[in-house]
Amino acid sequence: MATSAVIVPHHIAIVMDGNGRWAKKRLLPRIAGHKQGVDALSDCVKACLERGVRVLTVFAFSSENWNRPSDEVSGLMDLLVLALAKQVPRLNANGVQLHFIGDRQRLSNKVQAGLLEAELNTAGNQRLIFNVCFNYGGRWDIAQAAQKLASRGEAITEQSLDRALALAHVPDPDLLIRTGGELRISNFMLWQAAYSELYFSDRLWPEFEAATLDEAIAAYSARERRFGKTSAQLGTPQMVSNENAA
Ligand code: IPE
Ligand code: IPE
Ligand code: MG
Repeated sequence: MATSAVIVPHHIAIVMDGNGRWAKKRLLPRIAGHKQGVDALSDCVKACLERGVRVLTVFAFSSENWNRPSDEVSGLMDLLVLALAKQVPRLNANGVQLHFIGDRQRLSNKVQAGLLEAELNTAGNQRLIFNVCFNYGGRWDIAQAAQKLASRGEAITEQSLDRALALAHVPDPDLLIRTGGELRISNFMLWQAAYSELYFSDRLWPEFEAATLDEAIAAYSARERRFGKTSAQLGTPQMVSNENAA
């Protein structure tokens, strides 16, 4: 039986949702779900490397997640520091360049120092750009970009805003995955997801595995990305890229 070719997305973005429900099902505290989520993320990075994905962007903590109970918020901050200590050597060994995207001002000095150190340690790596969105919101990003341009007296155009966004170092995501069954964006990549292919999975994030990634990539491969054109105007789907949107 003929199978259609797999097209590996250049940039995959993921809303890693469902940690709390994973823990609740097991009568565990929510933070146990977040811990398991770190392991799922580590496996996901490995799977992306093996498949030749060049950019991975994940949503780890939203601008709105501050509204959670304070013990969960502080647990997530501690987990971030622990995860960095454990994962950065491994990321380095695998050629992963780490970036933290979001408003750092509200984070403690210890967390801010940890993020900066991890970025500096991995800055020379080229195999995979790995963006972790932490205290991030799509609205925050658009507002901070507009403020930056206004303070420089620069005109606000689609191009100048694009360059001022916190994710200006990577192209827009080709495939945006959300786990945990919710059918919403929750303030993630509002600008950049304009033409991303969306894939929603009922699987809870701690249960995400390489096979889930392959399912999403297979679904992506079967999509026709038209960027506003008609189907008849397109060449072979493999040739369609973000550049065609211009
Ligand atoms: C996603 O999992 C992680 C964060 C938002 C920090 P959740 O904690 O939102 O898990 P659910 O949605 O409650 O299951
Ligand atoms: C989105 O998940 C944010 C992250 C995964 C970090 P939420 O669990 O916060 O989203 P809502 O509240 O269900 O929309
Ligand atoms: Mg959630």
